[in-house]
Amino acid sequence: MTRHLLSLLDLEREEIFSLIARAGRLKQDLKRGKTHHPLQGKSLGMIFEKKSTRTRVSFEVGIYQLGAQSVYLSPEQMQLGRGESLKDTARVLSRYLDGIIARGNHHSDLEELARWSDIPVINALTELYHPCQVLSDLFTIREAGKNLEKMTLAFIGDPNNVFNSWVNAASIIGFELRLASPPGFDPDPKVIAAAKKNGKLTLKTFREPSRAAKGADIIYTDVWVSMGQEKEAKKRRKIFQPYQVNRGLVNQAGKKALVLHCLPAHREQEISGEVFERFAPIIFTQAENRLHSQKAILELLIAEKRR
Ligand code: CP
Ligand code: NVA
Repeated sequence: MTRHLLSLLDLEREEIFSLIARAGRLKQDLKRGKTHHPLQGKSLGMIFEKKSTRTRVSFEVGIYQLGAQSVYLSPEQMQLGRGESLKDTARVLSRYLDGIIARGNHHSDLEELARWSDIPVINALTELYHPCQVLSDLFTIREAGKNLEKMTLAFIGDPNNVFNSWVNAASIIGFELRLASPPGFDPDPKVIAAAKKNGKLTLKTFREPSRAAKGADIIYTDVWVSMGQEKEAKKRRKIFQPYQVNRGLVNQAGKKALVLHCLPAHREQEISGEVFERFAPIIFTQAENRLHSQKAILELLIAEKRR
C-alpha cells in the first residue's frame, strides 16, 4: 500500500525517532562530502499552491542530493488550473512520477490527491498541518541536546497549522505542550480529538504568555497572519500584540531555554528583533535542518531500500 505523509499521525513513534537519527547522519555525511543516491533515476513532482522559500528549496536540493530530479508543477500552468480534477491529476502523475510533494490551500485537496495517487504524497504545508516543519524541529531540538520526551514546549501566538503539527508530535512523543493564545483563538477541537485518539496528549492552554513560558525548555512562535489570512492581517496584529516573544517573556523561561521560529519572521510582531537575533544561530539551523530531515523522509517513503 502506498504510504503518504499528510500529517505526523501517519508516522509511528519509532519511525519519528529513526528519522531524527537518520537526519543527523545525513547531515554529517553531507558535511563530509559523502554522496549517497538511493533515489537515483526517480522523479518527484512539486505542486505548490502557496509561496515557499525553505520548503521548496530544501526539497528540491534534497531530491537532487539523493540522486533524483524534481519537477516543479505550478498549479496555474497545469490543467488543474482549468478544472481538471485532483482525482485524474493524481492518476496521471502516478504514471510518470515516484512521489508528489504538495503545498495546498485546502488540506482536503491533499487528502483527495493522496486517495487517488499510487505514489506517496508528502504534505509541504496546508492550512491544517505542517508535518515536515515539526519533524525537522524535533531533530533541531534533539541536536541541541534536549530530551524530546521530557521537554516542555510553549507555543506562543496563533494555534495554526504549525501548532497543529506540534499537537500531533506531543501526542506521539509525550512531551508537555503549552499554548498561550488570545480569546477566540483556541486549538481546533478536531485536531485535538485526532491527536488524543492517537496517543496521550498533555496540552495546557493559557491566556497569559508569561504563564505558558514559565520554566519551558522551548519557546516557539510563528507568524500571526498565515498564508491565506491576509484579509485579517490588521485585526490579527492588534489581537496578538500581547503575545510577542520578547526579552521579558524569554526571561520567564529556564536559563537554558531556546527560542525557535519556523520562519518567515516578522520582527517586532510575533518576535522582537532583539530576541530574534539572539537566537538567530539556532533559528537558521532550524531552517537548514529542513534539508536533512526531508531527505530522511524521502528515503523512508520513496527509496526502494534504505541503507
Ligand atoms: N517554514 C517554512 O515552511 O517556510 P517556507 O514557507 O518558506 O517554505
Ligand atoms: N503558519 C504559517 C507557516 C509558514 C511556514 C503559514 O501557514 O503561512
